[in-house]
Amino acid sequence: MHHLPNTGKTRSADDAEAPSRLCKTVYFFSMTEAWYYFMSTKLWGGRFTGANDPLMEAFNASIGFDKRMWQADITGSQAYALALARSGIISGNEAETLVEGLEQVAAEWAASTFELRPGDEDIHTANERRLTELLGDVAGKLHTGRSRNDQVATDTRLWLLGEIVHLRTHLREMIRTAVERAAAEIDLLMPGYTHLQPAQPTRWSHWILSHAWAWQRDAARLDELTQRVSSLPLGSGALAGNPFDVDRDFLAGQLGFASVADNSLDAVSDRDFVAEFLFWASLTMIHLSRWSEDLIIYSSREFGFVEVADAYSTGSSLMPQKKNPDSLELLRGKSGRVFGELSGFLMTMKGLPSTFNKDLQEDKEPLYDAVDTLRDSLQIAGGVLATLTVNTEKMAASLVPEMLATDLAEYLVRKGIPFRETHHVAGAAVRLAEEKGVRLSALSAAELRPLHPAFDEDVADVWSFERSVEQRSASGGSSRSAVKAQIEALDKWLAQ
Ligand code: ARG
Repeated sequence: MHHLPNTGKTRSADDAEAPSRLCKTVYFFSMTEAWYYFMSTKLWGGRFTGANDPLMEAFNASIGFDKRMWQADITGSQAYALALARSGIISGNEAETLVEGLEQVAAEWAASTFELRPGDEDIHTANERRLTELLGDVAGKLHTGRSRNDQVATDTRLWLLGEIVHLRTHLREMIRTAVERAAAEIDLLMPGYTHLQPAQPTRWSHWILSHAWAWQRDAARLDELTQRVSSLPLGSGALAGNPFDVDRDFLAGQLGFASVADNSLDAVSDRDFVAEFLFWASLTMIHLSRWSEDLIIYSSREFGFVEVADAYSTGSSLMPQKKNPDSLELLRGKSGRVFGELSGFLMTMKGLPSTFNKDLQEDKEPLYDAVDTLRDSLQIAGGVLATLTVNTEKMAASLVPEMLATDLAEYLVRKGIPFRETHHVAGAAVRLAEEKGVRLSALSAAELRPLHPAFDEDVADVWSFERSVEQRSASGGSSRSAVKAQIEALDKWLAQ
């Protein structure tokens, strides 16, 4: 039992559900428990000092990290006080006193004057302890019918909903930057790669947008999961429901939740929203990581297509000439960290029996870290993209005629020859050029004719990168019109 400072009272609401070490010996004296008790006194018992083991206190406490949800905890409690008054179990005046007292507690957090006490196990107990100091007895009415189980699930969702607003903004800003760049730089052609081997020419804008579409899916996915985060657990009690008929729709309205969780047993232990958010964060980071990897390659001296701005690069402590794309490497690196948070938390959830178990406290640190990482990463990526310099000459110079071998085959296709045959002929042309030690485009119609009689003087038209790109005009392709259509589609989506 916790002694509340200044009041001398003891709390019992949640603690009944959280058996202390003492309870263990009387309550759950299963064989396992008996063995554990026996072994702990026998073998490593000397390590423990009984009910007040300071290591256990620290091990159990979440205040060190969950204090960042102080605002959500206050808001949730204020709404709950109003709901209690509506149900008639406390008076309107009492609710008002509670709301104002909570406002004072919030002011202390906001001014960084809130003082933590040793017994403040988590943000919920800390706020209630402080409220009791400020208001006295009436504060004890706030937790009526409520448990930290429905409280923490509510706080976490409420907090996350607030963070998602920022993530959504940063993600959309990054997409907007991509769309603006794609529109401004639509003339630039670049080599496209498969297997990281030069494949076919494409537009630089098409490459930019290829990543923007992945980010757009991330944004859409975030909006979809937000609906599921926005389901209210409050009013579920510890597990079995609220005995004072609190109006949960009223609570949802007060707190801005879209819906009310349908089953109290499920509501207190449902952390799907955490897992889903961590998956979203992982996939978004993977998209940023793959984008970063492209740019790391394109910014290498050997490629030299782009230069990362000084603002997002660092130097070497040893080699004066070095300029390293650390921003991009960190984005790539942090994707592993976020995915680790997802896999770790899935393991935490996997074998839990029904309703609340303390394991669930382990949802917060990965969730907080993923939010922080995404918040930074999206802004850094947006900054890198907005300030990137393109080396247009180097990009153009990397286009080689051999990347038009497919176009050579397509030239014959347009003359009615089956593609399988033309593929073979174009392959023979590549070999012929190699044998002669010349570029593919240097082969004249006369030199090509022995490979196929359909070759004519107009074969010279094939050797234009612009023409090659423009021929890919079906929707979703590299042609100017197809890229413009993508820009329009994303613009329209951004305007929503
Ligand atoms: N601090 C806990 C958490 O973060 C909530 C407390 C619920 N504890 C309990 N014994 N019922 O999940």
